[in-house]
Amino acid sequence: MSANMVALAYLIAAVLIILALKGLSSPESSRRGNLFGMIGMLIAVLVTLQLPGVQNYAWILGALAVGAVAGGSVARKIPMTHMPQLVAFMHSLVGLAAVLIAVSAVYDPAAYGIAADDGGLHLASRIELFLGTFIGAITFTASLVAFAKLQGLLSGTPVTFKGQHFVNLMLGIVMMIAGIVFCIDPSWSSFLLMLAIALVLGVLLIIPIGGADMPVIVSMLNSYSGWAAAGIGFTLGNNMLIIAGALVGSSGAILSYIMCKAMNRSLFNVLLGGFGGQASTVGGAATVGDRPVQAGAAEDAAFLLKNARSVIIVPGYGLAVARAQHALKEVVDSLIASGVNVKFAIHPVAGRMPGHMNVLLAEADVPYDIVYEMDEINPEFSDTDVALVLGANDVVNPAAKTDSSSPIYGMPILEVTKANHVLVVKRSLSVGYAGLDNDLFYMDKTMMLFDDAKKACETILHAID
Ligand code: TAP
Repeated sequence: MSANMVALAYLIAAVLIILALKGLSSPESSRRGNLFGMIGMLIAVLVTLQLPGVQNYAWILGALAVGAVAGGSVARKIPMTHMPQLVAFMHSLVGLAAVLIAVSAVYDPAAYGIAADDGGLHLASRIELFLGTFIGAITFTASLVAFAKLQGLLSGTPVTFKGQHFVNLMLGIVMMIAGIVFCIDPSWSSFLLMLAIALVLGVLLIIPIGGADMPVIVSMLNSYSGWAAAGIGFTLGNNMLIIAGALVGSSGAILSYIMCKAMNRSLFNVLLGGFGGQASTVGGAATVGDRPVQAGAAEDAAFLLKNARSVIIVPGYGLAVARAQHALKEVVDSLIASGVNVKFAIHPVAGRMPGHMNVLLAEADVPYDIVYEMDEINPEFSDTDVALVLGANDVVNPAAKTDSSSPIYGMPILEVTKANHVLVVKRSLSVGYAGLDNDLFYMDKTMMLFDDAKKACETILHAID
């Protein structure tokens, strides 16, 4: 393939990947977006495989086969609720790949076509390798720690010690100095010192971050892995890798910003935080369940729903745990058939990953035109008969608006308390992810239905019909 044809094919692949990102911005177009992304990536891989520098197909095909089998089987088995840790693990692999490519490029620059006349590295290549290596190494270990915390292998409680920020700062400075020394006068000692410190920093930067902030961190690591790939793209002179890396880098950064905004936190606050752990102890099981609540049966819930003019359903993490989306869809169909106006309200951080609820509802074929984002639907609660909160907790906690001492104070919430009646379906009065008790459960207008979300939907459906 001529150089022009390669450039053209990469351009087409890049456009397809941009269209993929555009498609993924809405549930209606996300399947098409995924398809564009897959075709774009296939073109990029095939074109890269026929480049003159690629010589040993046996290793590449072997690696492809191992990756395809491992990736395919994990993707089929993984429950939706474990997606965040899978994504974190994937990012660690991108970071590791960036580090391994950098190490081999330093070892044998000629094999990558980047050797200077004396067989060493040009200054530009050294700078690119320095950036790609330290970002990749931090991404690698930080993502592994994020994975371990999300998977429950490590405690989600923030790990802090005296002088932590100072230690991190000093390590960061020494890492930078080692990297600059490598750029001025390349040697294995400066390169490996820089690499070792970056690996340690990845761990130290993530351990003080609490469980509740992990999604923002995963999205930030997504961004880092993109920049690491882009850095390596410069080293290899591969435009596709630069473009794809920059797209991942910038979209991850934008997503982190959106999530911080949805939780009313600043990125700095998240990075220096310890929010998740504090919150769990603030909420504390001791304060939960001390006050009386109005508990009802599925028949009461069915009566309330069937006789309502309008119902807004707020799904949360419990919907995902119970895998209740299909049973819920049947309830919705039945209510709509009885003339009830049903809408869904989606909080930007409901569930455990961005778009979690949208994916579940799409899986159950809930029509997109009855699914509303928080800002669109909030003004409608005051004109709604029943707000049905299904497995959600933090995203409807009024403390975010009323209690300035609450760790989630300032986080925008779905304003279900403005509806005439609130029906909350969950198994107990247990706290949600932020570990906080929720006044909503104890309000006069609230009826609690204590059950698994799927079972509750099935019994409600039975009672409606
Ligand atoms: P949560 O506040 O985590 O509450 C979920 C509730 O679901 C729990 O209180 C639990 O109560 C209930 N539940 C669990 N299993 C259930 C089942 N089988 N049937 C019925 N209910 C069940 O969820 P949320 O309101 O969706 O809020 C999300 C939280 O996670 C926020 O704090 C957010 O910041 C954080 N977070 C978000 C993300 C993203 S990006 N979406 C990622 C990580 C963390 P019971 O045990 O009493 O049933």
